[in-house]
Amino acid sequence: MIERIEEVTQAVLRRTYLVKAAILKPARDCKHSASIARCFNGLPVPLFGPEHEDQDIIGFHWRHYHLDWRFAPTQAFSAARSLYWDEQPGIEKAMVLTEEDIIRIEEVEMQMRRHATAFPIKKGNWPERLEAAYLHRKLKPGMVCPHKGARLSSCKVENGCVTCPLHGLRWDTTTGSLSPVYPTPTP
Ligand code: FES
Repeated sequence: MIERIEEVTQAVLRRTYLVKAAILKPARDCKHSASIARCFNGLPVPLFGPEHEDQDIIGFHWRHYHLDWRFAPTQAFSAARSLYWDEQPGIEKAMVLTEEDIIRIEEVEMQMRRHATAFPIKKGNWPERLEAAYLHRKLKPGMVCPHKGARLSSCKVENGCVTCPLHGLRWDTTTGSLSPVYPTPTP
C-alpha cells in the first residue's frame, strides 16, 4: 500500500508516496504563477503543508500553498533552479500557489527525488520576529509545527532538529523546543 507522505515518519528517497498536488489553470498574468506553470509544464505540482496566510509575519494576507520540492520532477526542479534560484537563493519559497492558480487538488503518486522541501528566505527581520514569538512554544504531537500547522514528520532531521519548510522555525525533535539559532540557508 502506498503511504501518504504526511503520515510517514522517515521519508525515503526514490520511494513513491501519495502527495497532495495541484492541477494548475493555464498561467495567468502573475510572475510567480507563470513561473511555476512554466517549470511544471502541465504536470501536477506537489504541495507541502496546509493552505495558510502570512499576515502575521510579512503582511501577506492571501491564502496560499507552498511547493514540496522533494517531489518535483527533475525537469521542473532544474527549470526553477536555472530560472531563479541561482540568482536569488531561496526564491522557491516565494513560489507559492493561491486558489486563483489551481483547478483542483488531488492525491497523486509521486516519487521522492530529494530531501529538501525548501529553505527559509532570510529577508528583513521577520525570521527573528517569528522566532521570538514562538520561543516558548513546543512542537505539537505528530510533529506538527505550532505556527501554521505544517506536519513535519516526513522532513529530514539534521543535528536533532527539523526545520519547518513553510517559514523556517527550527525544532528540536527530542525536546520539542524551538531551536534558537536561525539556520543559514543552504542552497
Ligand atoms: S508553519 Fe510557519 S514555521 Fe512552521
